[in-house]
Amino acid sequence: MTVEVSRENRQFLARAVTWAASQGIGQFIDLGCGMPTVPNTHQTAKATIPAARVAYIDNDPVVLTHLRALAEHGNPGVTVVDGDVREPGAIIAAIQDDIDLEAPACLLMGYLLHFFAPDAARDLVASYVARLVPGSYVVLSVGRADGAAAKQGFGAYSGVVDGREWYPDSGQPVHAAPRDGRVIVGVARV
Ligand SMILES: C[S@@+](CC[C@H](N)C(=O)[O-])C[C@H]1O[C@@H](n2cnc3c(N)ncnc32)[C@H](O)[C@@H]1O
Repeated sequence: MTVEVSRENRQFLARAVTWAASQGIGQFIDLGCGMPTVPNTHQTAKATIPAARVAYIDNDPVVLTHLRALAEHGNPGVTVVDGDVREPGAIIAAIQDDIDLEAPACLLMGYLLHFFAPDAARDLVASYVARLVPGSYVVLSVGRADGAAAKQGFGAYSGVVDGREWYPDSGQPVHAAPRDGRVIVGVARV
């Protein structure tokens, strides 16, 4: 993942979190959250909803060390889970004291699904979505090196766009001028 594409992805995620929070969503489940950066999901969400709660899930020990340091230093409402996202039952059990799944939540899978085979990725998303109540949101982004195929994908699935085209006027940065898609994104309401 190049620096440029990584930045585009994170900027999209920040816009999506801000947008979900503006819809009144105060709970975020960030699967495969990766290393803390600026802005993090909790910082972005709290800018709109100060009492927002965020569950960060990853299975990389280095990532987890950084996340735990963050959670222990003045970041109330932040939960860190060491878990494999391919085990939705275990992940949900681990976050259920902190995230109320009887209320709408925003599920983030940023730059995660391309680690899995297409069928496994589809089943994984479906498995998590089945655990969310109506009014929840699902935020997805995946990487794609082939610009032509990406464009074809945008045409086939309405609502799926190049990351830079998702609410570019929301007041948050959108990196670089339009070009062939590499960050493919979508936001869905459950
Ligand atoms: C490319 S990073 C994306 C980070 C962040 N979500 C973003 O969009 O910038 C993928 C992250 O997913 C985590 N990951 C990959 N497979 C995982 C799994 N099976 N369970 C938990 N985390 C996983 C990796 O450790 C890594 O931190």
